[in-house]
Amino acid sequence: MKNFWSYKKEYQSLRKNILKSIDRTLKSENLFFGNELKKFEKEFNRLNKSKFGLAVGSGTEALYIALKTFNIGFGDEVITVSNSAIPTVSAINSTGAKASFVDINENYLMNPEKIIKKINKRTKAIIPVHLYGHACDMNKICSIAKKYNLRVIEDCAQAQGALYKGKFVGSFGDAGCFSFYPTKILGAYGDGGFITVKSKKICEKMKRIRFYGAEQNNKNNKYIGKYYSNEPGINSRIDEVQLSILNIKIKKVKTNIKKRLKIANFYNNELRNTSLKLPAVKKNNKHVFHLYTVYHKKRDAIIKKLKKKKIKLNIYYPYPIHQMKGYKKNFNSFKDKLPVTEKLSKGIFSLPLYPEIEKRDLIKIIKNLKKTLNTL
Ligand SMILES: Cc1ncc(COP(=O)(O)O)c(C=O)c1O
Repeated sequence: MKNFWSYKKEYQSLRKNILKSIDRTLKSENLFFGNELKKFEKEFNRLNKSKFGLAVGSGTEALYIALKTFNIGFGDEVITVSNSAIPTVSAINSTGAKASFVDINENYLMNPEKIIKKINKRTKAIIPVHLYGHACDMNKICSIAKKYNLRVIEDCAQAQGALYKGKFVGSFGDAGCFSFYPTKILGAYGDGGFITVKSKKICEKMKRIRFYGAEQNNKNNKYIGKYYSNEPGINSRIDEVQLSILNIKIKKVKTNIKKRLKIANFYNNELRNTSLKLPAVKKNNKHVFHLYTVYHKKRDAIIKKLKKKKIKLNIYYPYPIHQMKGYKKNFNSFKDKLPVTEKLSKGIFSLPLYPEIEKRDLIKIIKNLKKTLNTL
């Protein structure tokens, strides 16, 4: 197994259907804003029990559009975590706002106890990140946001289908932002994203921002329609061909999550009595295991040894964002330290986990990992 992740087997099983629907879509001569979009938005909302929502070009753009919708920009600060994927922060910075980082708990998620200290008159929103597929403590985060009149934009890029106290992530805040990057719970064969919201009016505004600030379907006025912008926007279209693939793959989401949980369980059982710190699932939560992340002080030695056995282990993420050259200037307080974030970044690594992974590969990973741990 030379790869950490592969879609080869999945594609083999869906190939006929996918090729048929790409062909149908191309023959329809409708490349954007057609039936595939309508069908997908309806189905994604149904699956995630969301009232309204829109498909966009990527998860990064989903976050950007959500921030712009709530008029967040220059001079504003957005509270988030530094152990996330870079795009959480690049989306904030693209609006002109600055990220203000709070530390995480030992479970890799935003520590709500650290939020209040970071709030000042420039603070406009909180972006909790449901990292690896595990939901943040949304009750505490939302009650702080309510008290200080802040928006909550959930970064659900890694956590589609995850539950917090029985409710889907993306349904707690003002907006839930999802990614269809190929490795995600629902992955496209290209880029894509989604925003779930509670209000039709907000959804309509987001749809305008997705399309240069213009109305897509202004049937009332044939002049002020497509070519008239009501507000500044971007291009965050997702094309019908990609959506026709997503419309096939979305049917597999529930089964794929079940398969992920089964693999995570297998890892849990096999690695229970080792020196690894295994992922802990909080009570009343459903973790969807986009990533199976463990911690060990001797991480680098483990990765090196397994590489020799042709087993690839990845780190999500090796560098906290506040320590990256490109984003340091946007960290609102250089003097602040994020001790838990910094400590965990030095020992975390993830084991291969995707629905189609072969049992024999899992056995090979476990065998070599245990052997390596015994020699450390
Ligand atoms: C936590 C997190 N936020 C945001 C994103 C951005 O999504 P995309 O790659 O679709 O722009 C990703 C995915 O890479 C992610 O993992």
